[in-house]
Amino acid sequence: MKFFIDTADISEIRELAAAGFLDGVTTNPSLIAKTGRPIRDVIKEICQTIEGPVSAEVTAIHFDGMIAEGERLASIAANVTVKVPSTWDGFRACRALSRLGHKVNVTLCFSANQALLAAKAGATFISPFVGRLDDLGLDGMEVIREIRTIYDNDKSFTTEILASSIRTPLHVKQAAMAGADIATVPPAVLRNLSKHPLTDRGLESFLADWGRTGQAIL
Ligand code: E4P
Repeated sequence: MKFFIDTADISEIRELAAAGFLDGVTTNPSLIAKTGRPIRDVIKEICQTIEGPVSAEVTAIHFDGMIAEGERLASIAANVTVKVPSTWDGFRACRALSRLGHKVNVTLCFSANQALLAAKAGATFISPFVGRLDDLGLDGMEVIREIRTIYDNDKSFTTEILASSIRTPLHVKQAAMAGADIATVPPAVLRNLSKHPLTDRGLESFLADWGRTGQAIL
């Protein structure tokens, strides 16, 4: 499973890219708003930092506006993926933008049927929002499992499942087990994947024992 990072914070992106863990980046209007900078500048900088796909979201809600904004965003860099919402106009825009040769990420997906439409529309990625479904007491991961089955049943589909709204390390593990192709993860969650108290405790005792030997490896 590939890892994307869900942030527009360039210093976080640089640090995690340098560690070698990043296959791509996702942003959304809320994440861009947090930076306080123009979207064009932020997306350009991210695209110069990593080689993988960088999702930049349209804010138009009607087809024509989505196409115009999608073209504009795609012109920023070759690795921009245009993000459109899971609405009727969004699916139509996905189809049109894909046919024009752009990568498209269909976002705000909350059902398997929306994912089915996205695949029919030639989406590069479908983004089911696991955490937001869990927030309502629903099972977000079940939607990932359903989409996996639907996509596996039709070999003509090439859309990748991008597990989104990931909030915890448990979500990451469950998404990997459910067959998601990618998880887009907030920076803190990505770092937390490395943590286990038994690792810390084991390391502490190994180092204490080693210290008593008086040896040095180098
Ligand atoms: C994905 O592309 C979205 O930006 C993101 O995963 C939304 O996550 P949230 O529900 O934590 O805001």
